[in-house]
Amino acid sequence: MWPLVAALLLGSWCCGSAQLLLSKVKSVEFTGCNETVIIPCFVLNVEAQSTKEMFVKWKLNRTYIFIYDGNVNNSTVDSNFSSAKISVVDLLKGDASLKMDKRDAVVGNYTCEVTELIREGKTVVELKYRMGKYTKCLASSSWFSPNEKILIVIFPVLAILLFWGKFGILTLKYKSARTNKRIILLLIAGLVLTVIVIVGAILFIPGEYPVKNASGLGLIVISTGILILLQYNVFMTAFGMTSFTIAILITQVLGYVLAVVGLCLCIMACEPVHGPLLISDLGVIALAELLGLVYMKFVGNSVYEQKPRNYH
Ligand SMILES: *[C@@H]1O[C@H](CO)[C@@H](O)[C@H](O)[C@H]1NC(C)=O
Ligand SMILES: *[C@@H]1O[C@H](CO)[C@@H](O)[C@H](O)[C@H]1NC(C)=O
Ligand SMILES: *[C@@H]1O[C@H](CO)[C@@H](O)[C@H](O)[C@H]1NC(C)=O
Ligand SMILES: *[C@@H]1O[C@H](CO)[C@@H](O)[C@H](O)[C@H]1NC(C)=O
Ligand SMILES: *[C@@H]1O[C@H](CO)[C@@H](O)[C@H](O)[C@H]1NC(C)=O
Ligand SMILES: *[C@@H]1O[C@H](CO)[C@@H](O)[C@H](O)[C@H]1NC(C)=O
Repeated sequence: MWPLVAALLLGSWCCGSAQLLLSKVKSVEFTGCNETVIIPCFVLNVEAQSTKEMFVKWKLNRTYIFIYDGNVNNSTVDSNFSSAKISVVDLLKGDASLKMDKRDAVVGNYTCEVTELIREGKTVVELKYRMGKYTKCLASSSWFSPNEKILIVIFPVLAILLFWGKFGILTLKYKSARTNKRIILLLIAGLVLTVIVIVGAILFIPGEYPVKNASGLGLIVISTGILILLQYNVFMTAFGMTSFTIAILITQVLGYVLAVVGLCLCIMACEPVHGPLLISDLGVIALAELLGLVYMKFVGNSVYEQKPRNYH
């Protein structure tokens, strides 16, 4: 008893405290991108010369999940946290951080308890999970800035308006008994696409609701593929294929493929680098619509009028 009291008094007299000072980190986050998860715990005033003097215990809520006994240099690990470990060689530097594979990581309050002979200290760190890998790009405004969100919606909307422009020209200039059925099909498909993109925009723009926003973006990007079919059918109904319309369609297909790739990269990537790719590809799709409209308005006419003359 007396030696202990003496040691305590001596401890607090010589070192200011019989307590171990532990780093105070309130919480750490992990995402789908973290292969391993590290819950930090640093002793700021280690004095031990050997890990034999150290004892480290980690608990989650009230259950001990990891115990390192320096005296026998052995760790005991809860079966639910089989990958959990500390780095024994770093212990003398004060590092008692718990490392585990993502598969074992569960959110909650982890308590790190370190004992060095008679000195001890503990700290609580909350481990949080942040929606990352699969929804960050799709969902949060932290991934797409408000401006980017607007561009992502504006380009498809613009493309659809341009489609309706072409549709107008088609009905005014190229209407005939032969084309009526096609025009009705184009009208229906155009309306369906318009509704899908409006629904997509309503889901995508407001707030930070990962699933809603993600489905919205998915709807918008995937449905722009319908524009290619529409553009093809508009050309076929009006004047058939020319090398210029083929070039326009190829541009549009490329824009679409890259937009879908951009969408997938956004979903899978861990860093916000693919937003601009997605946006510029949606821009290319809109540009192809614009070229289609210009071609129909100014050039297509003459092609159409020349053809019958050639056959006479
Ligand atoms: C997850 O990974 C990020 C980036 O590498 C890192 O900053 C963070 O500390 C990691 N989180 C945990 C709990 O290990
Ligand atoms: C820890 O406690 C929190 C809430 O107090 C609970 O949600 C969580 O499931 C608990 N974790 C374990 C592993 O018991
Ligand atoms: C404790 O065991 C680890 C391997 O588990 C070994 O690397 C380390 O040298 C050992 N330390 C001591 C002090 O025996
Ligand atoms: C360490 O613990 C494991 C089981 O947890 C046991 O099998 C092993 O013999 C122990 N080693 C030492 C050196 O105590
Ligand atoms: C380990 O997992 C099992 C099954 O999920 C659960 O019933 C048990 O409470 C867990 N133990 C701890 C210490 O979290
Ligand atoms: C962890 O503790 C903090 C503060 O006591 C509390 O706000 C939080 O809800 C706890 N987290 C879990 C998952 O129990």
